[in-house]
Amino acid sequence: MQADMEFLHEEILRLKEKKRAIILSHNYQREEVQDIADFVGDSLELSRTASTIDCEVIVFCGVNFMAESASVLSPEKTVLLPESEAACPMADMIKVEGPRKLWKSYPGYESQPALVFPLEYSLRDIKREFPGVPVVAYVNTTADVKAESDICCTSSNVVKVVESLPGERVICVPDRNLSMWAQRNTKKQVISWDGFCHVHDRITKKDALKAKEAHPGALLMAHPECRPEVLDIADHVTSTSGMLRFANASEASEFIVGTELGLMHRLKKENPEKVFHPLRPDMICPNMKKTTLKSIHRALTEMTHVVKVPEDIRIPAKRALDRMLEIR
Ligand code: 13P
Ligand code: SF4
Repeated sequence: MQADMEFLHEEILRLKEKKRAIILSHNYQREEVQDIADFVGDSLELSRTASTIDCEVIVFCGVNFMAESASVLSPEKTVLLPESEAACPMADMIKVEGPRKLWKSYPGYESQPALVFPLEYSLRDIKREFPGVPVVAYVNTTADVKAESDICCTSSNVVKVVESLPGERVICVPDRNLSMWAQRNTKKQVISWDGFCHVHDRITKKDALKAKEAHPGALLMAHPECRPEVLDIADHVTSTSGMLRFANASEASEFIVGTELGLMHRLKKENPEKVFHPLRPDMICPNMKKTTLKSIHRALTEMTHVVKVPEDIRIPAKRALDRMLEIR
């Protein structure tokens, strides 16, 4: 480690102790951020940790919806997002209410296996069209979208969440690929929305076949934010930490990793004898890479940027997150 990095590392540990802070890191964060964190995990694990951990300050190394969820679940703690501009473009796509094209009803929804609403429609537009149908909000949403929803889900529990709901239909926002993945694993009709993650959705079937051809014998793990045609040829579809569990337990020695490259760090660290190939070398989420040791140090020194959700949104958003956390 370089001298300035070493200094930052030591300072962060000192400040953390002094302020009774805990550092949470998503699996996509930079290596040095993951290495200094108290907990590294996927969205579900980090939500669970944020709701139960004993501390005064949570430094959330991830993107803003994750820090928001931590604050919703633990309003008594100070939640800091070291980089205020670290956002998730998919989470920012869907709005609770907003301008839209005039429309009566979306044609063909009775017969379609997965109905996908175009981006012009707000969450309330869809709810008006399907009154009484429960709404599942992916955790990659803003707190006000969660507050308008019945329950949250993550990539690791979406099918369980959909199955837990009454009735034959569910509305699932905002990721069309995750919704289609849920649709393939449930008999219910999943009414979706046209959001997507630019990191995962850019992967084509051709890319996946090319990676398989380059590494015959390697198992392909893919995140459910990838397109259905990619998931079709994957050996295992799961969340980021699900990939870790799969690779750790597998007898196979070679894997193709169909998610953001930050996960490679833990995969390699926990399985030094196994080989991991990125599905495509440009699977990088720029927002997840904004946080550095420098920004964590600044966050703890200046106590910035505090993420706080107003009570009228926090309480219904917490209800949706709590309902998800009750599902095992
Ligand atoms: P996980 O919950 O699988 O870690 O995914 C979060 C995410 O942002 C995927 O792009
Ligand atoms: Fe959002 Fe995709 Fe980045 Fe995950 S990888 S934070 S879904 S943009």
